[in-house]
Amino acid sequence: MYQSVFFGNKLINAKDAKLSIASSAVLYGLSVYTVFPVCIGTNGERLAFRLRDHYERLVNSAKIIGIDSFALGWTYESFAHQVQALIVSNQITTNVYVRATVHVDAEIAGTRSRGLSSILSMFVYDAQPILSAEGVRLKTSVWRRIPDNSIPSRAKVNGAYVNSVLAKQDALDSGYDDCIFLDNAGHVCELSAANIFMVRDGVLITPDTTSDLLEGINRRTVIEELAGDLGYKVIERTVDLTELYIADELFASGTSANIAPILGVDGRSIGDGLPGSITRKIQSLHSEVLHGKVKKHHGWLMTLSAQTK
Ligand SMILES: Cc1ncc(COP(=O)(O)O)c(C=O)c1O
Repeated sequence: MYQSVFFGNKLINAKDAKLSIASSAVLYGLSVYTVFPVCIGTNGERLAFRLRDHYERLVNSAKIIGIDSFALGWTYESFAHQVQALIVSNQITTNVYVRATVHVDAEIAGTRSRGLSSILSMFVYDAQPILSAEGVRLKTSVWRRIPDNSIPSRAKVNGAYVNSVLAKQDALDSGYDDCIFLDNAGHVCELSAANIFMVRDGVLITPDTTSDLLEGINRRTVIEELAGDLGYKVIERTVDLTELYIADELFASGTSANIAPILGVDGRSIGDGLPGSITRKIQSLHSEVLHGKVKKHHGWLMTLSAQTK
């Protein structure tokens, strides 16, 4: 973690950024967050990917949970300005992730969300993907995904990540790399912190947005642009677990996962057990886009500073 962090309304040293033990953020996990990448471009510039979309998802997460004080104090422009200051202040020379969190810092407020004060924190850390670019093996979780009418996965709310922790730890304990969450009807949702795509007969298929999943920004990137750029069609629909077993290819998408090939599920090899050719094409296009190598998609990138030191 880099030492200069944004907390409240200014940049301070990480050790001085403190939340009260009586805050709703600590007591109830009442915080919402997003994580976005800042990559070093071909000319050494620092590039934030789809920053506006991340800001909007943060605002929407706060809105769903009823944290109404955040949107009052911020605009996209003021948010982007602070991201820029944070990146410059830390003199980033490598690809990093920025985690931006809105914490409800009101103390002993009880189990409610509206009308409470909140504080924005942002910190930077080196981008170490959570899933290997060479491929991962997954286990169907014994834990079901929290449904939209319990804690909505669409909102990136900290407390809900206990669900992800349970499922990921269960997978790790069993010798797998990550989990696949199913909903209560047995349909596929996502991984612990990434979305999932399968390839069947040259078509990409991914669970639709009513499948109790986070509406991932990289998921949307693949659906709306990358697949089409490469000439592939995408279908969003309900997905059965056994469809994954017989898919030609599977991959995960996410900020902390990038595009990761899925080589096996529940002890079964996917395809020939190697990263699929369509997965590899999406993976390299995704990486090129994030590093500013695809002119067509420069609109997704915000240059935070011209050159690394
Ligand atoms: C549960 C979950 N699903 C999917 C994703 C992928 O979302 P994105 O592509 O916006 O990073 C994440 C990312 O953190 C996540 O936590």
